[in-house]
Amino acid sequence: MSVGTHHTPARPPGTTDHQHPLFLDGTAASHAALCRAVDAVLDAITATDSRGPFPAESPEILHASIAATDWLPASGVPLEQVVGEVSRDVLARGARVGDPRCAAHLHPPTLLTASAAELAIATTNQSMDSFDQAPAATYAEDHLITRLAGLLGLPTDATGVLTSGGTASNLLGLLLARERAAAGPAGSALPATARRWRILASSAAHMSIRQAAAVLGLGRDAVVAVDTDHAGRMNPIALDRTIEKLHDDGAVPIAVVGTAGTTDTGAVDPLDALAERACRHRLWFHVDAAVGSALALSNRLRPMLDGLGRADSVTADLHKLWWQPIGASALLVRDAATLAGVREPADYLNRGEPDGALDLADRSLDTSRRFDALKILVSLRSTGREQLAAMVEHVVDLAGRAADSVRAHPGLELVAPPQTVTVLFRCRADGRTDDGLDQLNTAVQRHLLATGEAVIGRTRHRGRTALKLTLTNPMTGHDDVAALLDTIAAAGAGIATPTGGTTT
Ligand SMILES: Cc1ncc(COP(=O)(O)O)c(C=O)c1O
Repeated sequence: MSVGTHHTPARPPGTTDHQHPLFLDGTAASHAALCRAVDAVLDAITATDSRGPFPAESPEILHASIAATDWLPASGVPLEQVVGEVSRDVLARGARVGDPRCAAHLHPPTLLTASAAELAIATTNQSMDSFDQAPAATYAEDHLITRLAGLLGLPTDATGVLTSGGTASNLLGLLLARERAAAGPAGSALPATARRWRILASSAAHMSIRQAAAVLGLGRDAVVAVDTDHAGRMNPIALDRTIEKLHDDGAVPIAVVGTAGTTDTGAVDPLDALAERACRHRLWFHVDAAVGSALALSNRLRPMLDGLGRADSVTADLHKLWWQPIGASALLVRDAATLAGVREPADYLNRGEPDGALDLADRSLDTSRRFDALKILVSLRSTGREQLAAMVEHVVDLAGRAADSVRAHPGLELVAPPQTVTVLFRCRADGRTDDGLDQLNTAVQRHLLATGEAVIGRTRHRGRTALKLTLTNPMTGHDDVAALLDTIAAAGAGIATPTGGTTT
């Protein structure tokens, strides 16, 4: 029985109306409509190209202008109008990652070939959980995973899956670590000893490691911070001491997490030494190479990752130094059998058919999942390894030169030597206490953001406030960085000594 009043429409509501097609249906009218829509969106993007790095409006104004539009009107509004509104109220007021003055975080400008392939991902809408939803796409992702694993030095039969980001990859990697420690029958609860399980990671490891421990029911405090050396890398001797102390205290280490490229100093842990400890103590070895995986593209920089190939699981983000649109990350695993920890039967997915087809749901915590592998494959193949390597080397060199410029700048001081693509520094001001310098540098970062002049990072390093440049933009030159440093120093001088004022 039908619900409510009913009448028979002339055609189903999703069927192409030649004036206003809603879906691609193979007709010329629907293709033309897609082209018009894409043109309108491209116009909106290019119209905002010349904006500065950040909108100068207050959060209240941004909020109010979005809230002023009815985004679910009773009847649709012409697309050109909607795109115009979006261009004005949203895109023009974005953080522009392609601007050299936008240098706070790790998400980069994206390869335009990858952006274009996003359209194919969205319009064909393959879902990666089962072969019958993504036949060739399944093998495309599987191939990409194998290629990435090989590049990072994992064995040829290593496997893995794409995820939405480094956070999701770290969660999956640590789930596998937990499952190995549990080693009970599938589906059983964690044993009582799980309360004593510990994961060792450097004090500079990404917050998603502690978050994963919480999600996995081990508790945030199951992650034990291991001391770092002067450059921010995990100290293997400190790791030995920490493992010993945990044993003495009756705790049970189950995993070591190495970081290849920390978020603030870009430090790469000594992976070989960590792998050796993990092997000796039978610990799962996870490497968070969200930042550093791209170093493997460069013959010059790849040695920084020595030991990565000994990991049980590796996080490799592609929406950082591989210049992919978010989300694009991988979790690679050395031994395919360890993925059994995520396998959950579902009759309706018809896995294990006699034709032997692959089903990626067996590897993932997601069910429906985007075909992100497409944009990665399209853009990597069309860019090529040499060009990608040159871009990685360029941004690493840029960070090194930026540090030299900071050292030479009278208004700035270097806080930590750069290891990959980040530079930690701060504004100087004579006569200020450490607390006063913290306040000054906080004010500088906020001022540059509020005025829309620059988006720079602000973090804490060894208990003090530091400013940070994250140089992921391969179009940025050293002159751009020098100009940005001058802007920052000028802001610092202006705040420290307002015209006619005195230093505090
Ligand atoms: C070292 C490291 N690991 C993991 C992540 C998390 O990655 P995502 O933001 O893609 O979730 C980040 C993010 O900056 C990171 O720097």
